[in-house]
Amino acid sequence: MTASEIRQQFLDFFASKGHQIVPSAPIVIKNDPTLMFTNAGMNQFKDYFLGNRVPPNKRVVDTQKCLRVSGKHNDLEEVGIDTYHHTMFEMLGNWSFGDYFKKEAIAWSWELLTEVYKIPKDKLYVTVFQGDDKENLPKDEEAYNFWKEHIAEDRILLGNKKDNFWEMGDTGPCGPCSEIHVDCRTDEEKALVDGKTLVNADHPQVIEIWNNVFMQFNRLKDKSLEPLPAQHVDTGMGLERLVRVMQNKTSNYDTDLFMGTIHTTEGLTGKKYAGTDEKKDVAFRVIADHIRAIAFTIADGQLPSNTGAGYVIRRILRRAVRYYFSFLDVKKPLLHDLVPVLAAQFSHVFPELQQQVEFVKKVVYEEENNFLRTLESGIRRIEDFIQHATAKAVDGKTAFELYDTYGFPYDLTSLIAAENGFSVDEKGFDAAMKEQKDRSRAATELDMGDWVVLDETPNSVFVGYEQLESTTKLLKYRTVKAKGKEQFQLVLGQTPFYAESGGQVGDTGTLYFGEEVIHVTDTKKENNLTIHFADKLPAQPTATVKAAVAKEKRQNTERHHSATHLLHAALRQVLGTHVAQKGSLVNAEALRFDFSHFAKVTDEELAQIEAIVNEKIRANIPVVIRELPKEEALKLGAMALFGEKYGDVVRVVIMDPAYSVELCGGTHISSTGELGQFKFVSEGAVAAGVRRVEAVTGAKAEAFVNEQLQQLKEIKAALKNPKELVKSIETLLQDKASLEKQLEALELEKVRALAATIRDQAENINGVNFLGLVVNVSNAEGLKQLSFQLKNEIPDHVLLFVANIGGKASVALSIDEQLVAAKGWEAPKIIKEQVAPLIKGGGGGQKSFATAGGQETDKLDQVVAAVKKLITA
Ligand code: ALA
Repeated sequence: MTASEIRQQFLDFFASKGHQIVPSAPIVIKNDPTLMFTNAGMNQFKDYFLGNRVPPNKRVVDTQKCLRVSGKHNDLEEVGIDTYHHTMFEMLGNWSFGDYFKKEAIAWSWELLTEVYKIPKDKLYVTVFQGDDKENLPKDEEAYNFWKEHIAEDRILLGNKKDNFWEMGDTGPCGPCSEIHVDCRTDEEKALVDGKTLVNADHPQVIEIWNNVFMQFNRLKDKSLEPLPAQHVDTGMGLERLVRVMQNKTSNYDTDLFMGTIHTTEGLTGKKYAGTDEKKDVAFRVIADHIRAIAFTIADGQLPSNTGAGYVIRRILRRAVRYYFSFLDVKKPLLHDLVPVLAAQFSHVFPELQQQVEFVKKVVYEEENNFLRTLESGIRRIEDFIQHATAKAVDGKTAFELYDTYGFPYDLTSLIAAENGFSVDEKGFDAAMKEQKDRSRAATELDMGDWVVLDETPNSVFVGYEQLESTTKLLKYRTVKAKGKEQFQLVLGQTPFYAESGGQVGDTGTLYFGEEVIHVTDTKKENNLTIHFADKLPAQPTATVKAAVAKEKRQNTERHHSATHLLHAALRQVLGTHVAQKGSLVNAEALRFDFSHFAKVTDEELAQIEAIVNEKIRANIPVVIRELPKEEALKLGAMALFGEKYGDVVRVVIMDPAYSVELCGGTHISSTGELGQFKFVSEGAVAAGVRRVEAVTGAKAEAFVNEQLQQLKEIKAALKNPKELVKSIETLLQDKASLEKQLEALELEKVRALAATIRDQAENINGVNFLGLVVNVSNAEGLKQLSFQLKNEIPDHVLLFVANIGGKASVALSIDEQLVAAKGWEAPKIIKEQVAPLIKGGGGGQKSFATAGGQETDKLDQVVAAVKKLITA
């Protein structure tokens, strides 16, 4: 069976048990401060477990793209070394939201594995939570007894809190879990060691494939557990491991999920996988694994960068580059060539990659290329270090610099060091690493207080599409310390405040708790909660609240949001349909729009786009907003964004069905005429294959245009209001150029004349013809010309010309090539040591000619004296 068939069987099996098949959520998480990437299938359902939201369907099933490379669940360093951990993996999951519980979950998982997939029962073990005294949690008797109905009791093992109590993070939903393990060893091996003893013991052939979590608690900040409003089932089966078991392989990488990329890598590198060289094999696995994480994350909208989620992706990519660079001997970009292979392989499950394959490829290529260059300079750095080292050791600080600046892992540094007979101070490296980690932890620390709940109503209702004010009450509040600062966060029963999302900034405004006035400085979403960031907590939290959004700011923001839609459509019209949104910021001041496009947008194109948008504004098109089933919206031609999670019913914003139809949760003006006008402010690049434009509308556009016109007016006035402005500026520039030429010729004349008068003043000092003078020239070029005039006429010369040019000291020093060789005098050295300190400045040049400039014009004679003294000595 192929991986595709195995995946499909899972979905179909649970569909036959009344589950709705839902798509994977994006791998990048946007509305959760505790999580950067989806690390478990349950993330997108967290609010159902916590009771913040009511699920549309109580049973669902899916395959979820997960990434475990940061935070609580982090497998990065293991990946590739072993054959069963991954950065990105697919988690097959079935869910019950307050519906069935342990009995059905256990029975169905058994039925699927043994009857549908037909995995022999004597290969399977299950584990059950043994209880935990410290937490005051009993053994999971229920699960134990349900399992007894299916499997021999000696295959039911008890596990501790570490293995059998699942938690999403430091806080949040959790509960006891029951895992299913498969023993894939040969009969001979089985006869030697009892499989039971190898469960949860990191044996590569005795592996966990499925985890059934029985969600019952919410872990609070003080570490205590509070029962959830209802009981749920959350399961996760690793597709890669299941496929390996089903295809009878000893490694996940030998399945059809990975062999495509591995074969392509073999072709590209001319090396073989599964040969005799373990290091090479690890490199193959690292590449096959990492390219999946990189490609899918970029397709979901996260570009590699220097911070946050973008930095995690950059690090994964760099780890892959280091492996092919060091162990497959590849010194040019490689990963990007694997993107099309993956895209084709997954086009029926995760089509988002195929749809952006060129873009993803380009981003990966640029990243690889940049990092390869950094690696090369790192190698030069270490070679330089080795050459100049006094002892045969690389100190911890240098090893850490190589890691931090050049991306060298400790291993690579020690490899190169060993090749040169050097050791590396590992302790020093670890200490420097720890120091950095402590620093960055302190910078990102987030100390979240628990919610103080006043009202159990599950969620706040957003009324801000229709109204900017509402009367409501406070549901809950908490205090959060972020980077040392205190924040007060409030959740209301009903709110007109728009929470930052889809690029549109969060609303600001005021909350009136009776007489008390509280300012809202920002509004953000956390999963589905709308959180108001307040300047203080209310003295009377239970008072009736009047919530009022700052109106003008909201309206200006809406203008920029509607303009963004008009812009998006115009970009696609003018540049092509490859243009896809890669980022957006909409606020009261301006709009910023990032999109995929491989070339600079020319001035002509910008003018064309601007003209289309302004034409749509003048047409005063009504903005129609409809809620539609997603399928219907897509049929209308709605543009959906990659990496966004849309529900079954979506909000569609239409500005002429033939022009702009977008899925969008933002707020908008009611007809395009309200924008007044649209004006670009800038165009540039943000990353490989991503351009950024900034624009303004409404009063902001008017102000921008007026400012430009005002400048024009001032320019005209300065030129005495000529009839043809451009022509008169051109004439002015031409005149200036010709005057400069004339001036230059005159200067040269002057220098020649000066040269003639001073030629004979050279003084013979010990066989050296020294000519040192303070002269009168009008620019530094004059000094240079003077030196060049005389150096051919005076043999064995040292020429020093010093001048006060516009209040600054200027120096030119010319030394005969022969003297440079015979006496070892070097002009830059003399400038640096004798001249620069006197004139308080600096300079440099060639051995036989150097110049300097400085502040001190009183010391010009002293400069001459100093150099003369040097020659005399
Ligand atoms: N949430 C459980 C896990 O990730 C199923 O293992």
